Amino acid sequence: MTQRSIINPFFAARTSRKATSPAPLRMPALLKPEQPIYVKLPRAPINASPVPHLTSLYSSPVAGNYGSRAYPGNCGGNLIKDLIRFYDPKSVFDPMTGSGTCRDVCREIGVYCWSSDLHEGADACDASAFPRDCFEFAWIHPPYWRQKLYTMDSRCLSRTPTLEAFLDRYRLLIANCAGALKPGGRLAILMGDYVDRDAGFVSLTHHTKVLAFELGLRQCATDIIRFSHGASSGRKVYRSSFIPGLHDVCMIFEKGAK
Ligand SMILES: C[S@@+](CC[C@H](N)C(=O)[O-])C[C@H]1O[C@@H](n2cnc3c(N)ncnc32)[C@H](O)[C@@H]1O
Repeated sequence: MTQRSIINPFFAARTSRKATSPAPLRMPALLKPEQPIYVKLPRAPINASPVPHLTSLYSSPVAGNYGSRAYPGNCGGNLIKDLIRFYDPKSVFDPMTGSGTCRDVCREIGVYCWSSDLHEGADACDASAFPRDCFEFAWIHPPYWRQKLYTMDSRCLSRTPTLEAFLDRYRLLIANCAGALKPGGRLAILMGDYVDRDAGFVSLTHHTKVLAFELGLRQCATDIIRFSHGASSGRKVYRSSFIPGLHDVCMIFEKGAK
């Protein structure tokens, strides 16, 4: 595979247009979204990691045969698999399994996994419904507030009517996951920032950290910037001008010893 530096053809096409002329909604001729762009990543230091390609920049264009790509919000399984290989837990808590991506990864590598979802009636914000202090690792990929609607159930995080209501439920979710972990267990949260029709840009990654820290968790590894390969927005054409977000963020927190 040859590597080349990025020239943004969209920028070249836009800047040659006069600012006062009305902008027709046309795909610039030079922009071919289907054409991959290769970027040279920084070299990672050699270290004793059992998963050397797991760094703060994570790109996995192939989702793997886990869960269902047809499920809205499906995240692909390779990052989950690499995190489990890295932390080597004996048990995994997966209370927002969606199409079962984390469950399928655990099945493949032979790790016990508790999987549930509101679709089956299990509310991940209700701590009374789950075991306590027993898992070594937890994985959650919650709704990015109301970016996508997942269920008709009023307990669904994607159904919360305001940001405050979402954050109240999100706090219960993180508290429940923390409570399900053994001391020293890790919680990995995959979250993305989102532009809401009413609230504007909402930094859900920032809110995630604030909630986790308030609940006594400690971030124990770098943010992992996961490239959003295959996102449906990448195939759309928008009238407005904005800086596209092409990633979400995986944050890993540790529960302290009692
Ligand atoms: C982003 S999707 C997860 C998709 C999953 N990572 C996959 O690859 O298929 C978020 C999930 O959270 C679930 N959910 C939302 N609110 C919930 C709640 N209160 N309790 C349990 N699950 C909930 C939704 O039903 C949805 O399946």
